[in-house]
Amino acid sequence: MTHPHETVHVALGDRSYRIEIGHGVLANSGAWVSPLLSRPRVAVVTDSTVGPLHLDSLRDGLAAEGIEMTHLTLPAGEATKCWRYLSETVEWLLEQKVERGDMVVAFGGGVIGDLVGFAAAILRRGVRFVQIPTSLLAQVDSSVGGKTAINSPHGKNLIGSFHQPSLVLADVAVLGTLTERDFLAGYGEVVKYGLLGDASFFEWLEINAPTLAAGDISKRIEAVRWSCQMKADIVARDETEQGDRALLNLGHTFGHALEAATGYSDRLLHGEGVAIGCALAFEVSSRLGLCSQEDPSRVRAHFKAMGMKTDLSDIEGDLPDADGLLALMGQDKKVTQGTLNYIMARGIGEAFVTSDVDTETVRRVLHEALT
Ligand SMILES: NC(=O)c1ccc[n+]([C@@H]2O[C@H](COP(=O)([O-])OP(=O)(O)OC[C@H]3O[C@@H](n4cnc5c(N)ncnc54)[C@H](O)[C@@H]3O)[C@@H](O)[C@H]2O)c1
Repeated sequence: MTHPHETVHVALGDRSYRIEIGHGVLANSGAWVSPLLSRPRVAVVTDSTVGPLHLDSLRDGLAAEGIEMTHLTLPAGEATKCWRYLSETVEWLLEQKVERGDMVVAFGGGVIGDLVGFAAAILRRGVRFVQIPTSLLAQVDSSVGGKTAINSPHGKNLIGSFHQPSLVLADVAVLGTLTERDFLAGYGEVVKYGLLGDASFFEWLEINAPTLAAGDISKRIEAVRWSCQMKADIVARDETEQGDRALLNLGHTFGHALEAATGYSDRLLHGEGVAIGCALAFEVSSRLGLCSQEDPSRVRAHFKAMGMKTDLSDIEGDLPDADGLLALMGQDKKVTQGTLNYIMARGIGEAFVTSDVDTETVRRVLHEALT
């Protein structure tokens, strides 16, 4: 059976690039990458889970166009987004004699994409790179838009830069080896797009997500395409997050506080925090009279139907109280001059940015959610 192939354009002037989405994209990777190369050689960085599963397919796809690859394998996991592995990556790229005209390839989930994108940004004051995202989260979110970063003991993604990729290749075939938990965490970001800006996408997901999660390839391609198109449109309007791009943070202020409260550990994955955060953002919006009472129920019902973490009680172990969570929210990157910017919603698909949110209401919602 042949599946559709989709292309999304990210319109950023002379830094514009394409996102190629399909089934079997890795097998054709050489054909997509070749026109961008000054010599037939790329340096690939992957992680210890993705490498053994999919590196051979990538090597074959590149070899089909006569492109040689060398590779570096880093440990899988969030802890890799740190100075040590950034430095290891940059030094390895220098050892491989990667020059200004060469292409670096980030082959993995959001951790590899963020780290390798940052390494490419600082290597020789900037070399080009290709994102080949392998997790659902990376295909719909982190590989697009040019945010690159590593973590600091002071917080997540605090050291980084904007560096757009030259190409993104999203092969939904590789999603088949994700654990169900990682798949559903990535799906949290997919739902976020519907919730923030397109009610018809959310409705489509309500109907199609069960078969999509069960492995339907065409629906996976459609969900990745829709998500990437929405992100591409927002990034083209506001590349460096002066305004609209903040909408992509729907659910993230709550989510980041929960990630911090759980020590960025396995207790809560990023996408799980985003899903719970979206449910909380709709609950607060409803309490403030911004959206109907049915909206938060509908959001939660969908998460529950998909078997996702939905409520604070779905997080194992103890959490701080409402004041503790509020304090963690206050450390968010979205704080400007001491004021927290919230992403609230006037309904499903109608998110907006505001600092005008009554903290007492947020505290009450958190308190009730904790009890
Ligand atoms: N730059 C951005 O705009 C942006 C946006 C959202 C999230 N992020 C970042 O992305 C990261 C989270 O991304 P993630 O969820 O992809 O994390 P990840 O890279 O750790 O991947 C999750 C797990 O899935 C494994 N994996 C990846 N692809 C696989 C495959 N095809 N088969 C089997 N296993 C596979 C990985 O090895 C890892 O163990 C966070 O660091 C977050 O800060 C960045």
